Amino acid sequence: MARRGNIEQPQTADRFTVRVAVDYDGMSQLAADAVTDTVQSHRGAALTLPTGETPRGMYQELVSRISVGRLDFSTVQFFCLDDYLGKEITDEASLTGWLQEVFLQPAHVPPTNIHFIPATDPDPHSAAARYDRDIQHAGGLELAVVGIGLNGHVGFNEPGSAPDSRTRVVDLTSVSREQNAAYFDGEQAIPERAITMGLGTILEARRIVLIVSGSSKAEILRLALEGPITSDIPASHLRSAGSRLAVIADADAVLKLSRI
Ligand code: PGA
Repeated sequence: MARRGNIEQPQTADRFTVRVAVDYDGMSQLAADAVTDTVQSHRGAALTLPTGETPRGMYQELVSRISVGRLDFSTVQFFCLDDYLGKEITDEASLTGWLQEVFLQPAHVPPTNIHFIPATDPDPHSAAARYDRDIQHAGGLELAVVGIGLNGHVGFNEPGSAPDSRTRVVDLTSVSREQNAAYFDGEQAIPERAITMGLGTILEARRIVLIVSGSSKAEILRLALEGPITSDIPASHLRSAGSRLAVIADADAVLKLSRI
């Protein structure tokens, strides 16, 4: 099905869908469409959206839809996906701080509807378990939009993460720390630990969208979608969601997929 210059390719082997946009802007539009669909059809829905370079265009598009009144985030329960342990929102490296600036504030998400990663809680382990319970109390995630790291991580579920892992404190790999240090011109020290929504927590979402852009992600996307399902590549576990998973990628990111 052609859509705004994008190619949609249902991938039947694992029952998940791969939608390929011609470029980054097209991918961002498709990702914004997926979020818009959920928000418009499920008033009060709980959702999680990622940080990083990949979702910037999606956020721009969502903010522009909100500013012209086509979309309303005022009833959405927003759960943050991950953040560095010990980082205050005001810290330059805080992922939540980034999200506030790029999306939560311009989208007018009511502060009472935002569920922050308990990155500075004195007892982060108990707070992480409470965070999972808060998601359940909000009715479970209607939608989880996630990206993929160069090492196959999802959120900060690094290689080795179990598919039933819950929201928890994790050690970051050097690959993730280097990738993220690049956002701060390498000047900002990236902590060694983080809190991430668990893979199991994400896999319980009623709809999961994996967004991927650029040729640097082509090999890891191939491993995640066409290699064995293994905790060595945490994103490969997303395939166990079957038809609840949609991959939205640009043409460069799917260069190495054999079935596209
Ligand atoms: P990126 O990060 O969007 O900045 O590539 C994705 C991720 O590491 O999950």
